Amino acid sequence: MNPSHDQNRTLLHIEQRRSIRSFTDEPVSEEHLLTILRAANQAPSAHNQQSWKFVVIRGDRKKELAALVNARAADFPKPAAVLLRMAARSINSAPVVIVVANTGELIGHGTDLFRIEKERALDFFQTMEIQSSAAAIQNLLIAATSLGLATVWLGILFLMKDEVLRFMGEEQGEFMAVIPVGYASKAGKAPKKIDFGMMVKWLD
Ligand SMILES: Cc1cc2nc3c(=O)[nH]c(=O)nc-3n(C[C@H](O)[C@H](O)[C@H](O)COP(=O)(O)O)c2cc1C
Repeated sequence: MNPSHDQNRTLLHIEQRRSIRSFTDEPVSEEHLLTILRAANQAPSAHNQQSWKFVVIRGDRKKELAALVNARAADFPKPAAVLLRMAARSINSAPVVIVVANTGELIGHGTDLFRIEKERALDFFQTMEIQSSAAAIQNLLIAATSLGLATVWLGILFLMKDEVLRFMGEEQGEFMAVIPVGYASKAGKAPKKIDFGMMVKWLD
């Protein structure tokens, strides 16, 4: 652990965050939920458009989502099917699931504003929306960690994104992520990370 993390709680929580795929039955308080959603909404976003939507799923609706994912898993070849079934188990075990979608508002707004060709504008603003929502998701994950909550970013549901969007009533949006939130049933094992020095190139 980096010694500066003793003083700096933000760095500590960034380091402590783990993907957790199995949760206890302990509910997540409304206060904690609002705190992590607020943290997500504080993220930087292209043109400050906040082109994200968070759908909070609990109770029977959450069970329905898990059942939907489990049922659809059978339509995919083995590796994807296994990951989808794992995702369904995580959704089932977590007390809350937050689904993130991009609204597409930046695409409409930016295309008019920048007056560049439609095809290039679509590619540009779609990418900016994805990057903005990714920043919001990371804020949410770090905020959750700081409150002792566990999370996992499930991207595999992209394979059935139309059904997920329909389930949420957000058909006009673009799928970003499904995030089960709860308390870890056991401590997450830290995966081996390539040292950051390998990822950095210095040009002086
Ligand atoms: C864009 C994205 C998609 C991911 N999709 C999945 C997924 O579908 N299922 C899953 O179990 N984990 C998923 N993860 C979590 C990664 O497997 C995890 O971040 C990685 O193994 C490193 O572990 P850590 O998060 O504990 O550092 C995803 C993470 C990201 C950023």
